[in-house]
Amino acid sequence: MSQESENVSRRTTLRLLTGAVTAAAVTTATPVTGPAPQARATPRHSRVDELLARLTIDEKLGLLHGAKDPENRGQAGYVPGVPRLGIPPLRLADGPAGVRLRTARATALPAPVMLASTFDPALAREYGRVIGHEGRALGQDVLLSPMVNLIRTPYAGRNFETFSEDPLLSADIVAEEIRGIQGEGLIATVKHFALNNQETDRTSVDVRIGEQALYETELRGFEAAVAAGAGAVMGAYNKVDGLHACENPALLTGILRERWGFDGWVMSDWDATHSAAPALTAGLDMEMPAGRWFGEPLRRAVRDGAVPEATVDRAVRRILTIMERFGLLDGTAPARPARDAQAGARVAYRVAVAGATLLRNAHRDGNATLPLAGPAARSLAVIGPTGALPFVGGGGSAHVVPDRAVSPLDALAARAGQGARVTYALGEDLYGKPLPATSPGARFERQSVGAGETWAYDGTLTVDEPDEWTLLVHYSGERPRVLLDGRELFPRRDAMAELFDGFGLAATAPDGLKVRRTTLALTAGRHALHVTAKGGAKGQVFRLRRITAATRAADVAEAVRTARAAHSVVLFAYEDAIEGRDRTTLALPGRQEALIDAVTVANPRTTVVLNTSSAVTMPWLERTGAVLQMYYPGQEGAAATAAVLFGDTDPGGRLTQTFPLSDSRHPTAGDPRRYPGADGVAEYTEGVRTGYRWYDAEGVEPLFPFGHGLSYTTFAYAGLVVTPARGGGLTASFTVRNTGTRTGVTVPQLYVGPSPDVTLDQAPLVLAGYRRLELRPGQIRRVTVPLAPRTLSCWDPARRAWVLGTGTRTVRLGASARDLRLTVRARVLAL
Ligand code: BGC
Repeated sequence: MSQESENVSRRTTLRLLTGAVTAAAVTTATPVTGPAPQARATPRHSRVDELLARLTIDEKLGLLHGAKDPENRGQAGYVPGVPRLGIPPLRLADGPAGVRLRTARATALPAPVMLASTFDPALAREYGRVIGHEGRALGQDVLLSPMVNLIRTPYAGRNFETFSEDPLLSADIVAEEIRGIQGEGLIATVKHFALNNQETDRTSVDVRIGEQALYETELRGFEAAVAAGAGAVMGAYNKVDGLHACENPALLTGILRERWGFDGWVMSDWDATHSAAPALTAGLDMEMPAGRWFGEPLRRAVRDGAVPEATVDRAVRRILTIMERFGLLDGTAPARPARDAQAGARVAYRVAVAGATLLRNAHRDGNATLPLAGPAARSLAVIGPTGALPFVGGGGSAHVVPDRAVSPLDALAARAGQGARVTYALGEDLYGKPLPATSPGARFERQSVGAGETWAYDGTLTVDEPDEWTLLVHYSGERPRVLLDGRELFPRRDAMAELFDGFGLAATAPDGLKVRRTTLALTAGRHALHVTAKGGAKGQVFRLRRITAATRAADVAEAVRTARAAHSVVLFAYEDAIEGRDRTTLALPGRQEALIDAVTVANPRTTVVLNTSSAVTMPWLERTGAVLQMYYPGQEGAAATAAVLFGDTDPGGRLTQTFPLSDSRHPTAGDPRRYPGADGVAEYTEGVRTGYRWYDAEGVEPLFPFGHGLSYTTFAYAGLVVTPARGGGLTASFTVRNTGTRTGVTVPQLYVGPSPDVTLDQAPLVLAGYRRLELRPGQIRRVTVPLAPRTLSCWDPARRAWVLGTGTRTVRLGASARDLRLTVRARVLAL
């Protein structure tokens, strides 16, 4: 793009998002004055001013980009300070599910999507506190979290790292988590600003979204994060309206600074900076992780007068302002605490239990499948690879090295206790079996190569009958070269692909060796096999493995036998999403669907526990006894799973996203321009109808609706009264009664219909309030839930303001977006 057209494009974008009236929406409703632009002037900090006056230009520039940490503590980022002036360095660590250091253990909390499933902002604060405390204890200053991008498509690889498809729930959770993190003295970074809702082409996709939808959906969580005081914002990789998010003035200045009054600093996502002067001018303050643009190029731009030093000062001031606020400039920051692993584990457990979402619980012969009791608790088969292997967290920058993690099998056996029979079968093989004993045999089962040595094999692999083989290499150090009939099986790919290939459950064997796999059709007979492995500096260990039709059939047959021999079955199914890649199907990976089919036929008292990132399709659903969604449940996930399965606690979670029936019936299906984008552009043509709003508007049946989740007890909702509240909102009150025989959790949800006075786009129903409650059998509680004016408002691009949706509106109370039990009409009054 020429400089001139680039400038035009920048100007157009800026106008679209921040400025001039572009369309006239006919409306009689009242503009809301509420949280409009906060023209908060940057407060003057004498200490910051004094430092700015003393810093040299080189010192200032040194604060605006990352560098290598001389102490290498294993975190993602480092910014050197200026020791001469007492400005300390900043250490910046991921991430969303706990503090991620490559060199140290930390509490691996349940994935953020599981936190949001609790519908409990108070618990989000505790989750944040654990991370804040540990981050400080582990020598960090800035946390690269939370992520609050909306779940827009079920395929997105990072859906586990974020919260929900609903803006209100996301906003509530992110705000409390940030208060928790920062209350412990760690600076929080809300990310990825904005519209990083997919991983496909994440560094280049150009997102086009209407202004109304932008404000009402994706931005709400970010706005709440800023209002909660987040010290930093991370700019996204993608483009928005033709400009990379990290050099997009409409986002970084128009919305963030001018409208929301953000006074912290904006850092780029890792390698998401694309220019020096334009990015800094647009509002990017810090390039991470290095200084490709904000190093020498920015120095030149300042020297040549392309960037005024005042613009550099502005960025430095924003960073120092937050450092000062956190006591990092004058030594008033509290002393770094010691880690409290026990406290972290307790919160990890509570969140996993509270977010456990029971999707189905069928009755057979008058008994519910769950909780496991009586014979079901005494004779149990555990099936599936993640039954024996704890699935702690998702892959990528959110992966935490856990303090500990036991397997569900061990947790279930411990809970079942003496006298119970708990058996196990693999069912689905992730890591392969040794090569056939005959040729080439066990020599590949564990081969060690000494440091500096090279090991080579030239022989044959004998295949008995034509079959599809998955060949796997497990290795430490450099990946061995394996050639079969002259074809390289595990070639090195580009750095990015190698990075992503290394993420996820299937990429690491239980003993820590790296794993790569390739699947190919092999004819019967002898195949030339050539292997070379280099010991490198430290020596190397590797093995070659295989999965064939025969080994698969044997694994399924064993699972079926094990299932038949037990009273009940708990089958662990997984899907290991990773950062950097979207899924290509909503089906469970591998042959897990066939495994579930075979096991449920053998034993219908089968509970499927899902360790998945997001929605999966369930063609097998009706054949199961129960389905428990545990997402990535963190280091205490096994104990939490056992507690829920045995009914020691009620499954407290509710879906924060709609689960679709199929790959073709969800908001991003059927139109590549909508997802994953065509010609580099993704058009959010669903507008304000994200998530459940789309299903309602289109009349599409979901597999499980937003807000769904079962309890082991039953609840009645009654007496819904909704009255106008001061300031343009509504107040809903109603009575909840536990009508069952166990203590349990319910999450009554209030959905509001469109305003008759607004002609802007409106969804059929939006979530306007909710309350998580735990009640004893027979206990009754009267609950009051405020429905905020913001949720009752639309963003009017013509007025550049929120417009309150006045008039008579439908308010519905229910246990999910599709289980609406009580309906009243209420008047929203003009201000
Ligand atoms: C991710 C960020 C993360 C950063 C540092 C990027 O690839 O998108 O979320 O904070 O890496 O690890």
